[in-house]
Amino acid sequence: MHDRPYILLSCGMSIDGYLGSAAPRRLELSNSADFDRVDAVRASCDAILVGANTVRTDNPRLLVRSQDRREARTARGLPPSPIKVTLTERVRLDPRADFFTAGDCEKLVYCASEGLGDARSRLGRVATVVDGGRRVQMRSLSEDLGARGVQRLMVEGGGNVHTQFLTNDLVDELQLVVAPFFVGDSRATRFVGDGRFPFNPGRRATLAGVRQIGDVVLLRYALSSRFETE
Ligand SMILES: NC(=O)c1ccc[n+]([C@@H]2O[C@H](COP(=O)([O-])OP(=O)(O)OC[C@H]3O[C@@H](n4cnc5c(N)ncnc54)[C@H](OP(=O)(O)O)[C@@H]3O)[C@@H](O)[C@H]2O)c1
Repeated sequence: MHDRPYILLSCGMSIDGYLGSAAPRRLELSNSADFDRVDAVRASCDAILVGANTVRTDNPRLLVRSQDRREARTARGLPPSPIKVTLTERVRLDPRADFFTAGDCEKLVYCASEGLGDARSRLGRVATVVDGGRRVQMRSLSEDLGARGVQRLMVEGGGNVHTQFLTNDLVDELQLVVAPFFVGDSRATRFVGDGRFPFNPGRRATLAGVRQIGDVVLLRYALSSRFETE
C-alpha cells in the first residue's frame, strides 16, 4: 500500500521549453492525435490537478472528452471524469470558470489557511475547499488525495506546479510532448522554474519511451521505481 497516488505529470512544451505564449490565453501546442492520447490518459486517472493560474489563463474543462471512455469508466463504477483538483493562496478564482461548472465530478480546491474563509465563501457552493496549511505542500496534498481514494493522479500544469511536484521528488512518470515550434519570449512560462531537481547531471532520469505522434514527439521518463510500463 502506498500513502500517496501514482503521480503522472503530463505536459506539452515548445522546442524552447515554454508551456504557452506570454499572452494570457491558452496556446495549442499539440495536435489532435495527441490530444486524444491525453484524453485516454485522463480517463485512466482518478484525479487531475492544475494550478490556479492555469484555471485563470486556460479556463480548462478537464473532462474526459470521448463518450466511449466516459461510458467505460461508468461501467467500472467510476464517475465519467476524474476528480478535478486545484490549489491557491490568493483565491482569485472565478466560480463561473469551466473548472467549476463543467461536468458533475467532484472539485477540490486546496487553499492556504490564510485564504480559507474567503475561499469557502467564494467557492464553497461549487467545490470542496480543503485547508492546505500555511502553504500547501505537494506531499501532504498528495497524501490527502490518497486518503480520499485517489490512486492515480495526473498533474497537468502549469510550470509553478510542475516545479513543486518535481523538486519534491513526487513524480513517478513524466510524459513530455515537444511541439515543433519556438515561442521565443522569456515572459512566457517555462515547463519548470528554478529549483533543485532530483534528476540532474549527476543523476540521469530513465528514458522509458519515445513516440512520434504526427508532428510532435512524446517522451516518457520513469522517475521512480513505481513507474508503470504501458
Ligand atoms: N502546455 C501545457 O501542457 C500546459 C498545461 C497547463 C498550463 N499551461 C500554461 O502554464 C501557464 C500557467 O502556469 P504557471 O506556472 O503560471 O501557474 P500554475 O502552475 O498553473 O499555477 C500557479 C498558481 O497555483 C497556486 N499555487 C501554486 N503553488 C501553490 C502552493 N504551494 N500553495 C497554494 N497555492 C499554490 C497559486 O495560485 P494563486 O495565485 O491563486 O495563489 C499560483 O499562482 C499558462 O500559460 C498555461 O497556459 C500549459
